[in-house]
Amino acid sequence: MNSSKKILVTGGAGFIGSHVVKRFIKNYPNYHIVNLDALTYAGNLENLKEIESASNYTFEKGDINNVDFINNLFKKYNFDAVIHLAAESHVDRSILGPRKTIETNIVGTLNLLIAAQNSWKDNIEGKLFYHVSTDEVYGSLGDTGFFVEETPYDPRSPYSASKAASDHLVRAYWHTYDLPILISNCSNNYGSFQFPEKLIPLFIHNVKNNKELPVYGDGKYTRDWLWVEDHASAIETIFHKGKMGETYNIGGNNEWKNIDLIHLLCDSMDEILGRNPGASRELITFVKDRPGHDRRYAIDATKLKNDLNWEPSITFEKGLKNTIQWYLENEEWLDNVTSGEYKKYYEKQYEGR
Ligand code: NAD
Ligand code: DAU
Repeated sequence: MNSSKKILVTGGAGFIGSHVVKRFIKNYPNYHIVNLDALTYAGNLENLKEIESASNYTFEKGDINNVDFINNLFKKYNFDAVIHLAAESHVDRSILGPRKTIETNIVGTLNLLIAAQNSWKDNIEGKLFYHVSTDEVYGSLGDTGFFVEETPYDPRSPYSASKAASDHLVRAYWHTYDLPILISNCSNNYGSFQFPEKLIPLFIHNVKNNKELPVYGDGKYTRDWLWVEDHASAIETIFHKGKMGETYNIGGNNEWKNIDLIHLLCDSMDEILGRNPGASRELITFVKDRPGHDRRYAIDATKLKNDLNWEPSITFEKGLKNTIQWYLENEEWLDNVTSGEYKKYYEKQYEGR
């Protein structure tokens, strides 16, 4: 049995954070999980319904940009560990207006580091600040090669620049103040509860509603897709077994050109919805490219496999089918998150493109 711990999870009402919170609540009754989330457009307590009344769970609504709030939270709970996921996570939004992304992802992370260091400075033994980051910090690959942990940082969007800066700050706290840290850099996630601004849930939503599928540029951009439950299990593994100060890449070993993935998604949805074969592909519309669009991401996750014995659990074909089924079966969730603010964002992002 794991010893008891009080863990602050930030961004636990978001896509990946909610899967992490649910996994820890279920697998570790001895841990008390405090979920801190500002409930921005991307945060949704519906994602946590199944554990909201668990005795080892507490929700705190608050902003990581609010220094007093963060400092008081550390005093109130005396945390043993932090798993930091809260962020502005969408590249397109960071391009439309970078300020919020920079404030939350960089200054918000610094606020947490300062609070953790203050809280732990007299007794650092057994403490951990785990920062959840992205493969986008490494920049863009050509047709060959993979990102390894030593790949030099080369971020190219306001979002990836902000995540790169936050990674550097976390490492600076390790070197300068001996703060016990871990960082993981993960590839593109997909699965249930992802906000439908990201490629897969957006396109499921649009196919379902017979709306155009806006493919950026030539559609030959490549991403390495990982099921969100597998990301959460990798975080669980790294949290417990990772070596202090280290970075671990997490990936699915599962590269897809966007257009090939979109064809698979359309064909699977035709089958599930009983449409004529090829019907959903008719919705594909090539639109103006994303500025600074990174051509290819691909993770080499050998270190995680060799050192911590972690590997993804399911194939993409199976995961994608399950994911489509989930969005179709959870119409109310999708309707709720696509009303209000979503409509304004959609118009701004896609109109006239
Ligand atoms: P998300 O946008 O779904 O969720 C982000 C959560 O953070 C939301 O619940 C939101 O309310 C909360 N939040 C935002 N600003 C906040 C603030 N100022 N204070 C407190 N809470 C705030 O994001 P996600 O896709 O779940 O990503 C989670 C983390 O994982 C991010 O750090 C992201 O960079 C990283 N990541 C994401 C992916 C991916 O494919 N989605 C891949 C690798 C790494
Ligand atoms: O690689 C990890 C990153 O993956 C995470 O750090 C980010 O938080 C997450 O949002 C994701 O970033 P991407 O930019 O790769 O994901 P997105 O779903 O926005 O886009 C995936 C690909 O699909 C990308 O090449 C852009 C393209 N795309 C996206 C949208 C929303 C389209 O062609 N049309 C679209 O409408």
